[in-house]
Amino acid sequence: MDRKTFYITTPIYYPSDKLHIGHSYTTVAADAMARYKRLRGYDVMFLTGTDEHGQKIQRVAEEKGITPKEHVDEIVEGIKKLWKLMDITNDSFIRTTDNFHKEAVQKIFKKLYDQGDIYKSEYEGWYCTPCESFWTKTQLEDGKCPDCKRTVELTKEESYFFKLSKYQDRLIKYIEQNPEFIQPNSRQNEMINNFLRPGLEDLCVSRTTFNWGIPVSFDDKHVVYVWIDALSNYITALGFMSEEQVAYSKYWPADVQLVGKEIVRFHTIIWPAMLMALGQPLPKQVFGHGWLLLEGGKMSKSKGNVIDPVILVEKYGLDSIRYFLLREVPFGSDGVFSNEALINRINSDLANDLGNLVSRTVAMIEKYFAGTIPSQKQSGEFDEQLKQIVMDTPKKVEELLDKLQFSTALTEIWKAISRTNKYIDETMPWELSKDEANNERLAAVMYNLAESIRIISILIQPFMPKTPIEIWRQFGLNDESTTSWKSAKSWGVYPQGTIVKKGETLFPRIDIKKEMEELCKITATEEEKKTSKSSCKEIKEEKEQITIEDFAKIDLRVAKVIEAQKVEKADKLLKLKLEVGEEIRQVVAGIAKNYSPEEIIGKYVILVANLKPVTLRGIESQGMVLAASNDKELVVATVDKMIESGTKVK
Ligand code: MSP
Repeated sequence: MDRKTFYITTPIYYPSDKLHIGHSYTTVAADAMARYKRLRGYDVMFLTGTDEHGQKIQRVAEEKGITPKEHVDEIVEGIKKLWKLMDITNDSFIRTTDNFHKEAVQKIFKKLYDQGDIYKSEYEGWYCTPCESFWTKTQLEDGKCPDCKRTVELTKEESYFFKLSKYQDRLIKYIEQNPEFIQPNSRQNEMINNFLRPGLEDLCVSRTTFNWGIPVSFDDKHVVYVWIDALSNYITALGFMSEEQVAYSKYWPADVQLVGKEIVRFHTIIWPAMLMALGQPLPKQVFGHGWLLLEGGKMSKSKGNVIDPVILVEKYGLDSIRYFLLREVPFGSDGVFSNEALINRINSDLANDLGNLVSRTVAMIEKYFAGTIPSQKQSGEFDEQLKQIVMDTPKKVEELLDKLQFSTALTEIWKAISRTNKYIDETMPWELSKDEANNERLAAVMYNLAESIRIISILIQPFMPKTPIEIWRQFGLNDESTTSWKSAKSWGVYPQGTIVKKGETLFPRIDIKKEMEELCKITATEEEKKTSKSSCKEIKEEKEQITIEDFAKIDLRVAKVIEAQKVEKADKLLKLKLEVGEEIRQVVAGIAKNYSPEEIIGKYVILVANLKPVTLRGIESQGMVLAASNDKELVVATVDKMIESGTKVK
């Protein structure tokens, strides 16, 4: 039987030598999806490429004094290299300057002309060159492009038009009858209410004022409008309109076309109308994802934030970057990118949760069982809970990934990781190891940990290409039966007797303060470099998370201040006498600059009652009074309502 196919596309990119991390977003998401479908046994076609024609490219090339083709050739090489660096597994890469594409677009244009869907007339209106978009006067906002807010140009030229208006009713009907066609749903409403219902005008589909484009075959004064040229790539790449249509018959219609939200309009109005006119089926889904923004706006060079994907991958590793892109923001919504958020995620999710789990487990198996995975015979408390959560994860991940919910899929995997970490705390292998009699139980705990990690390592494959391989190396897993997607759905697959071996730390912890200072230097302006002044914000280091048991170690009590006096020759210190229930305590507090003795007497404060006593200025301090402070102020923490002194605070 033939395998089921899965065809996924990204938009084709404008050749720019400044691709930032936001651009990688669509491609990384599409790649995760392609990998996932391959793992599930699909015959996948994943297409990306470059959109190389248009007025903008021609202008830039002219400024550089080279031909447009020379200009794009150089940049496209860089883009291909970037995708290689990001381990993008596209099956095909299309350039709109490829001859087969140009010929197919000419045939598409001619067919639409011959059947009367394209006609000749005159265009008068507004054109936004950076967006390569036509606008009517009423669509402009303050006379500017409503998308990018830049200046538009008045154009008047003889043009060919596509009868877009003819397809308006069919499009509305199609969208309404196929709720999966435009996703997320919010984008569907936007298209219907903002564009389709107000009415579509015929679309100008040729230009005569420049020539960097595909010539109209029967009227070569005209070049084909770039969006008609670009959108066609999704089918010309499969051989549509060529003699070799095998791939087209196999993969079209696309299962999902990923696009950023600003180009949903082109993909859910112009593109389906073109396909309807060509008598071809529409893609099953167009998914409009949100943007990655920097705090305060669009992605561009900014202080303290490195957005160059090459630098980011070099600094933090590919898997960390891919994880962050897919984990941080729910796919479909806008999100904020910052290096600080990235480093915090690396430290907490990757170094702490996943990295530690792997290294602790390998170290314990080496220590207690000389590196050999033992048997799982003796089941015990907590085993069932662990198994249940881990075993439920593959199904949840599949359901979420089928809906392109990358972030929630990762959250589910991380729940399994946290549960496994908790299992170590619960079973306390270091305690079990103290008594020979517990050996079988200890063996079972080690087995369960290894098995859980095996399953997790399989599930992270779509997102992280390198980490699973390293985990498998450390855990001695090297064949299909233990690493296939299917094998993640069974418990107890890990072969007993497998040798584990400690390897490199998967995700080294990053010193965030130091790192942010370094990033700040990288992004400093020339002026700042000269004056060594920097305006990067100060980073507060995030403290490591603690458990409730850790917190319970601190004995906090309500205490009443019954006496207070200044400490001689120490202008910051007050010596306090505190009533803590039946007991009286003496505490030295650094609050003298903010409180006079009279002010503090009578207050009910919070005392850290089990802090080891210290001697300050020759006076013993038996605990510490809590206060909130920053550079400017200090206020003592008190209770909101009267309560007896000595009461526990928790
Ligand atoms: N050439 C057109 C697409 C034609 S498809 C027939 C184009 N190219 S682009 O290079 O400007 O954008 C490519 C993709 O990158 C788009 O999906 C766009 O939304 C995405 N992104 C560019 N900047 C982005 C962010 N800051 N965040 C997320 N995605 C962003 O549009």
